[in-house]
Amino acid sequence: MFSTNGLIPSGSDDMHKDCERIIFTEQQLKSRIKEVAEQVDQLYKGKRPLVVGILKGSIIFYADFIRHLTAPVELDFMVVSSYGSGTVSSGKLKIKKDLDNDVKGRDVIIVEDIIDSGFTLANLKALLLERGASSVVIVTLLNKQERREYDIKSDFNCFDIGDEFVIGYGLDYDEQYRSLPYIAVLKASVYSGE
Ligand code: PRP
Repeated sequence: MFSTNGLIPSGSDDMHKDCERIIFTEQQLKSRIKEVAEQVDQLYKGKRPLVVGILKGSIIFYADFIRHLTAPVELDFMVVSSYGSGTVSSGKLKIKKDLDNDVKGRDVIIVEDIIDSGFTLANLKALLLERGASSVVIVTLLNKQERREYDIKSDFNCFDIGDEFVIGYGLDYDEQYRSLPYIAVLKASVYSGE
């Protein structure tokens, strides 16, 4: 296991070298996700929720989260985009891959890696309710509260973070770093081109 002590592993690996500092270790992620998933699970006694992962950023969180649920769940995924290749959120939400399931009458759990401006989740929640979902609960790994522009909040959030560019555990910069087992702040030199 990498970085249980919060230190960036030494060596010549480029992914690790581009990290300014680790903010959540593998161990911290594991224990907080278990705690939150057990709280969410309480809501679904006797129900069969549809757990919707928003790809790609949520993939690792999603896989860890669902394994703590005891309710019988069905899995589904959407691919949407709100970011370009840079670090600023902009533009209109695009649905690149829609759900396989009809959400009418279903209890839906949306699983997201991060809520930033809130654009993605505000639009997605509205869309799923419009399609007839009975309930929509939002579960996020990270919340950047100070960046919020849309009136939406996560029902269950694992960690609050400041306005820093974070990578790892599913989160990317320009499609890189998603496989890092921890969450780290990306060195500014990587995206400023210095
Ligand atoms: C990220 C993240 C959320 C969204 C959050 O997705 O996964 O979906 O941005 O930002 P917002 O609150 O300002 O809408 P991104 O488009 O980077 O795609 P990815 O999940 O494939 O990394």
